Amino acid sequence: MRSRLDTERLGMAIGHELRGGEVITLTGELGAGKTCVVRGLAKGMGLSTEDVTSPTFTIIQEYENQPPIAHVDLYRLEGSIEIDEIGLSAYFDTEHVVVIEWADRLSQAQLPDDRLALHLTFGSRYSRHVMLQGFGTSSQALLNALVSQEN
Ligand SMILES: Nc1ncnc2c1ncn2[C@@H]1O[C@H](COP(=O)(O)OP(=O)(O)O)[C@@H](O)[C@H]1O
Ligand SMILES: [Mg+2]
Repeated sequence: MRSRLDTERLGMAIGHELRGGEVITLTGELGAGKTCVVRGLAKGMGLSTEDVTSPTFTIIQEYENQPPIAHVDLYRLEGSIEIDEIGLSAYFDTEHVVVIEWADRLSQAQLPDDRLALHLTFGSRYSRHVMLQGFGTSSQALLNALVSQEN
């Protein structure tokens, strides 16, 4: 991905496929483009994107949408995280689309078995690489749909 717009476009492509109930995890260093993906994703789901920034004071930012989007940023949380305590587990249902920045602060056991994982890395100064991984049948189907969107 050679520009911010490419990164957003990937998010949009994912957003187009979401119907509610999906969990998308985002990992990668500060500045790797996680929030950019979320912005594209929300746009792809029909949300106007000015609203989408890293939630600075809240850990979970909910965007009113059909389906509703929960944007989670675990950056400021230190130590072990209790998903019940931060209210995250309540969003793991069939209705919400949950996107989690810094998802590597959680253990596998704290995440649903079915989830789409994106790992972002820096290429040269002006590019980013992304690795997508579908865990579980729904997320693998989502990944296949993305690939056929590309062709
Ligand atoms: N493919 C890309 N090429 C160059 N710059 C990018 C790319 N994707 C995102 N950026 C830029 O990287 C910066 C950090 O993005 P952001 O989404 O806030 O990262 P994160 O949420 O991972 O910390 C932004 O200024 C964004 O415009
Ligand atoms: Mg961010």
